[in-house]
Amino acid sequence: AGDKLALTPPMGWNSWNAFGVNVSDAQVRATARILVESGLAAKGWSSVNIDDGWQAAARANDGELAGNERFPDMAALGGYLHGLGLRFGIYSSPGPATCGKYLGAYRHEAQDAATYARWGVDFLKYDLCSYHDMIAKTPTRAAHMLPYQIMGEALKAQPRGIVYSLCQYGEQQVWEWGADVGGQAWRMTGDILDTWASVLETGFSAAPYTQYVAPGRWNDPDMLVVGHVGWGDPKPSRLTPDEQYSHISLWSMLAAPLLLGNDLTKLDAFTLNLLTNAEVLAINQDTLGRAASRVRDADDWQIWVKPLADGGKAIGIFNMGDRFRRLRVDPALYAKGQSGLPYQARDAWRQRALPGAGGAIDVELPAHGVMLLTVR
Ligand code: DGJ
Repeated sequence: AGDKLALTPPMGWNSWNAFGVNVSDAQVRATARILVESGLAAKGWSSVNIDDGWQAAARANDGELAGNERFPDMAALGGYLHGLGLRFGIYSSPGPATCGKYLGAYRHEAQDAATYARWGVDFLKYDLCSYHDMIAKTPTRAAHMLPYQIMGEALKAQPRGIVYSLCQYGEQQVWEWGADVGGQAWRMTGDILDTWASVLETGFSAAPYTQYVAPGRWNDPDMLVVGHVGWGDPKPSRLTPDEQYSHISLWSMLAAPLLLGNDLTKLDAFTLNLLTNAEVLAINQDTLGRAASRVRDADDWQIWVKPLADGGKAIGIFNMGDRFRRLRVDPALYAKGQSGLPYQARDAWRQRALPGAGGAIDVELPAHGVMLLTVR
């Protein structure tokens, strides 16, 4: 069933960046309730993904893996999430141990995939971790593909669709083969941090690989670092508000999975607004499923263009510089390939039409800020 999964980029929340390996059933349930009550779930933020730290210390005699003391009943948790209309995501590793030293799926792949399906799992993040050490002497593409293929086949054999997210840090050009091993998304880099430099390294560095993106084939520049993040001690994101607009804009333009990494018990009005702008989310979730191309890469500004299903284009104009900048841009040049043609444009963040029906516009960009347009 893999070819019908994640036809638009997955959206939801992942426990890692807020709670690390100490995540608990109670935190996951509380997060799920906030997703629903805040209105985030209704806007599409509907997958609740447990990252590393849920696994028991040992398998049962028959090889079955259960949750640890913080996750007493995984099937019940899955039922709870489904009852709220949410999806249930889980995490494992192809090696004997995960990065957090919990049990991985090594030599139990088929059994674990069946267990996930029984629990009602809808999403698996599969993190290379200790398998990386196992193939350190021969880190070929084939060596990287094999473990992902094994789990990919195990997932496909299950009676429910399970979205398969490859967390392999972008080695061996995973974007070229991630779909061949059954994946719907693949991480491009190591872990994101809540700094502008990290957004450049994880997101903007994906520019050369955007042509690999298609429905069910998503480049994953890692989780969103907005709200309160901080690996066990969540603090407000160190990204400035303008950097956060750029971060969400770029992930939308990349058609990236949108997975929150924040502690939702600390959700504030700014972050909620940032995450519930329907015109911005529509760019990410557009059914054509194409990522933007970077069409201008000037010294300290960039223009990205994403084709949309209705023939329109989303245009992202990013100021990489540390100072306010004013640019004169004709959206028709980027949307239609020629300046001077008539167009209608909307400012997606401000949710309003630009006045006029054509011609160049002045774009005012704060430091590390963005203007996100849809042009038709
Ligand atoms: C490394 C991954 O890149 C992170 O996103 C997270 O899953 C940790 N491992 C968990 O150990």
